[in-house]
Amino acid sequence: MTDLYQLVYCSRNTISEQGDNLAEAVSAILATARHNNRQAGVTGALLFTRSWFAQVLEGPRDAVEATFERIQSDMRHGDVTVLSFLAAEQRSFPNWSMAFAGEPTEAATQALDHLVPRSSGVETLTAAGHGVLRLLERVTRDEDTRVSA
Ligand SMILES: Cc1cc2nc3c(=O)[nH]c(=O)nc-3n(C[C@H](O)[C@H](O)[C@H](O)COP(=O)(O)O)c2cc1C
Repeated sequence: MTDLYQLVYCSRNTISEQGDNLAEAVSAILATARHNNRQAGVTGALLFTRSWFAQVLEGPRDAVEATFERIQSDMRHGDVTVLSFLAAEQRSFPNWSMAFAGEPTEAATQALDHLVPRSSGVETLTAAGHGVLRLLERVTRDEDTRVSA
């Protein structure tokens, strides 16, 4: 049994409310995330819309928990909701200290708006976590294709 865990959460993006430039703020978050995650053995993916963040963090349990503790208290977002935290067989984003879905496409925005849970039952959250993971896998793969095309 390997010590590999995958945490999926979503949160309300409060950057624009605070009057900051969204693109610049997200790019700063990404730079910090990549630097820290590389050192901690954490990989994952981040998606944002004007209203939401969704992120997958994966790695050794302690490293994922320590990273999430810091993220959770970050003032650039609020209503941080863990959708799922599960042992995983393998990483979904093995080559990314933090994959980034770029400017959210209309389709991804709609999908995320739809996935953010409106209720808090464990099953609803886990299903939403699964949906966010699949969405991020798909969107980051599309980005790869676009970049290398
Ligand atoms: C949506 C969001 C995602 C973040 N993702 C990460 C991450 O994956 N890894 C990380 O170390 N910090 C991440 N951060 C930043 C942390 O909240 C925190 O600012 C940072 O870890 C502090 O790092 P430092 O002590 O090296 O400055 C994220 C912040 C936000 C708002």
